[in-house]
Amino acid sequence: MEGRKNPDSEAAPYRVIDLFAGCGGISEGFRRSGFFRPVAAVEMDRAAAATYAANFGKGHVFNGDIADWVVGDLPEADVVTGGPPCQGFSNLGSKREDDERNNLWQRYVDTLVKVRPKAFLMENVDRFFKTHQFQALLAELNSGNRLADYRIDAAVLRATDYGSAQLRKRTIVIGTRKDVDQIFLPRVQVAETGWRTVKDAIGDIEAAVPVDRVDLPTGREFEVFGKVLPGAYDAHELHVTRKYIDLSRQRFEAIPEGGNRHDLPFELQAPCWRGFRGGAGDVMGRLRWERPSVTIRTEFWKPEKGRYLHPVENRAITHYEAARIQGFPDTFKWCGTKTEIGRQIGNAVPVEMAEALARHIGEHLSA
Ligand SMILES: C[S@@+](CC[C@H](N)C(=O)[O-])C[C@H]1O[C@@H](n2cnc3c(N)ncnc32)[C@H](O)[C@@H]1O
Repeated sequence: MEGRKNPDSEAAPYRVIDLFAGCGGISEGFRRSGFFRPVAAVEMDRAAAATYAANFGKGHVFNGDIADWVVGDLPEADVVTGGPPCQGFSNLGSKREDDERNNLWQRYVDTLVKVRPKAFLMENVDRFFKTHQFQALLAELNSGNRLADYRIDAAVLRATDYGSAQLRKRTIVIGTRKDVDQIFLPRVQVAETGWRTVKDAIGDIEAAVPVDRVDLPTGREFEVFGKVLPGAYDAHELHVTRKYIDLSRQRFEAIPEGGNRHDLPFELQAPCWRGFRGGAGDVMGRLRWERPSVTIRTEFWKPEKGRYLHPVENRAITHYEAARIQGFPDTFKWCGTKTEIGRQIGNAVPVEMAEALARHIGEHLSA
């Protein structure tokens, strides 16, 4: 991953707006494709917006609610990207949550209506097709409605099929304005036999950087949006672990590569697990060197939250390793607390997947 150069985005031919930009996983992929330069990014979370700013520049970042941004003067753009946060089945949410999500969804559509990009890329949870928001998108495309001059292609794609070392599924929607040749989703680019593995993503780290710290370096300050935040940290400075109690370490030692809590001898099992063979197979699972990683979520540093134990070390993966698995280069800078940075990493679209989509869209726009 290191040594991979970012193309000079100033010279890139197309302009992109990144909505709900997070730390910039999608933007990093768009930049790396060589086709796009960012003209606006909208992100409400201050630490995530700071990370974005540290990597892509402060000038075009709006750190606030998209509802406040979309009513202002918006820049012209060729592509709008981003996924309105959506927790999946809206019938599980409260009325208030539903309203909020619909509200975010509407602001995304407002942006498309105002900017009229040639194409848009939307990413979302793999259950997105079952949500009200997806039905609302389809309805907007009908004649006479707000997106009537767009067509879409949509499917659930696996990040591994596009060069990521992570088996993460995302719903990807590509919309194209009707006066532009329709852009369909890209074909699978990496066959299952050639999927990148955990070893490909993080196998070189251990020898170079020992994990002996639990805290991020102190005294680092990043001033942005009139505030001072912790950072900016280099990627390798995120190679920090946690303080584990002896019982946790004993449990980790008993779990082999590819194993999980079911491998624990009776005396190391938590009382609530004893005699119960069902449940999520990933709890306290250990990653395998020779397979892609499971989805990196926002609390990957907690082994009890998923298959996050390092393939051979008796600890969860570090923030540095998680960022690598998400495809971020070692040159990427990070801002915020350990928890905030963890959330930024877990929320991101795998960079390789974003890059493959960006290249695909860029090639079509250039054809
Ligand atoms: C899934 S994350 C985006 C990840 C990003 N696409 C990436 O690849 O790194 C969704 C982001 O939407 C932001 N967000 C949620 N509500 C928002 C709002 N009303 N206005 C602006 N940003 C918002 C959250 O703070 C979060 O960072």
